[in-house]
Amino acid sequence: MQRCLVTGGAGFIGSHLAERLLALGHEVVLLDDLSTGRRANIEHLLGDPRVTFRQGSITDPVLLADVVPGTDVIFHFAAAVGVRLVADQPARTIETNIYPTEALLRLAIYGGQRVFLASTSEVYGKNAKEIWQEGDDLVFGPTTKPRWAYGCSKAIDEFLALAYHQTHGLPVVIGRFFNVIGPRQVGHYGMVVPRFVEQALRGEPLTVYDDGGQVRCFADVREVVEAVIGLMERPDAIGAVFNIGSDQPVSIRELAERVIARTGCEVPIRYVPYAEAYGHDFEDVRRRIPDLGRLRATLGWVPSRKIDEILDEVIAWKRAELSSQ
Ligand SMILES: NC(=O)c1ccc[n+]([C@@H]2O[C@H](COP(=O)([O-])OP(=O)(O)OC[C@H]3O[C@@H](n4cnc5c(N)ncnc54)[C@H](O)[C@@H]3O)[C@@H](O)[C@H]2O)c1
Repeated sequence: MQRCLVTGGAGFIGSHLAERLLALGHEVVLLDDLSTGRRANIEHLLGDPRVTFRQGSITDPVLLADVVPGTDVIFHFAAAVGVRLVADQPARTIETNIYPTEALLRLAIYGGQRVFLASTSEVYGKNAKEIWQEGDDLVFGPTTKPRWAYGCSKAIDEFLALAYHQTHGLPVVIGRFFNVIGPRQVGHYGMVVPRFVEQALRGEPLTVYDDGGQVRCFADVREVVEAVIGLMERPDAIGAVFNIGSDQPVSIRELAERVIARTGCEVPIRYVPYAEAYGHDFEDVRRRIPDLGRLRATLGWVPSRKIDEILDEVIAWKRAELSSQ
């Protein structure tokens, strides 16, 4: 049994990770300020004596210095997340995603914890390649467009983690998540699947930005969590960066059509220019598809659940949530 710190543990992915760690027999410490996460995500775990919940911010160095000692592994998931939040609050993105990561990594150097760093496909920026490999260039837009601050801030985290690995032997694994979906994900920060499902179930039009030709790959949160835990058990994953997600492309238009079909709600699709949704500064990425060769070679498998199955689960969860309101 190990004592695992999950920052962002009341969030979407963090709460699923905590659940799985407990099922595997570990103790968990959840650190979360409940800014985009929710207590309801972890309520069912709090009665377990192996769970400690600390509500507070990773920007508080005193709190970090209190929770890190005594743990064996750190899963660092707390971050300012979501296209809308990042576009609206660029300073918060940088302050949350860079300085606390540095503080946490430094504590891990002294404490000897293994660290998993949750990074993102956003670090590839707008690289024009069809399929992205971990060694590919990071291609960001100008600093006058705040949306690039998210990918850039996570890229700095990666640089720092790899530098500490090189100079201090910090055992760190970096995972670049592509679109992760499943129950508990919320739509108000720009996440497309929960937003579409909620719109359909409320009988509202699904708002698709631009022409809906943007391509994404959607992976089940449970499979992603399994991959994260699997990587942390493999010595050959230490000091490396991994794409984590699905490699099955789906256009946003097709996603909207699938949500309409799976919910059985006869709602129209409304196409909205990005400028209307996110302002004139906004730039999006047309394609986002990972090469999963490194993940497959290391784990022996990759996430493969079909989008329709995952959508059905998200729809069932959202229906239950809406009916309890
Ligand atoms: N969901 C995805 O598709 C996706 C894709 C790429 C990367 N990621 C990364 O995965 C991680 C988890 O994302 P998620 O989708 O579960 O989002 P989420 O918003 O549900 O989780 C983030 C959690 O961090 C917490 N948090 C934010 N600021 C904090 C602070 N200052 N102090 C303490 N806690 C704080 C939030 O309350 C939330 O519970 C993030 O690092 C994100 O960048 C997610």
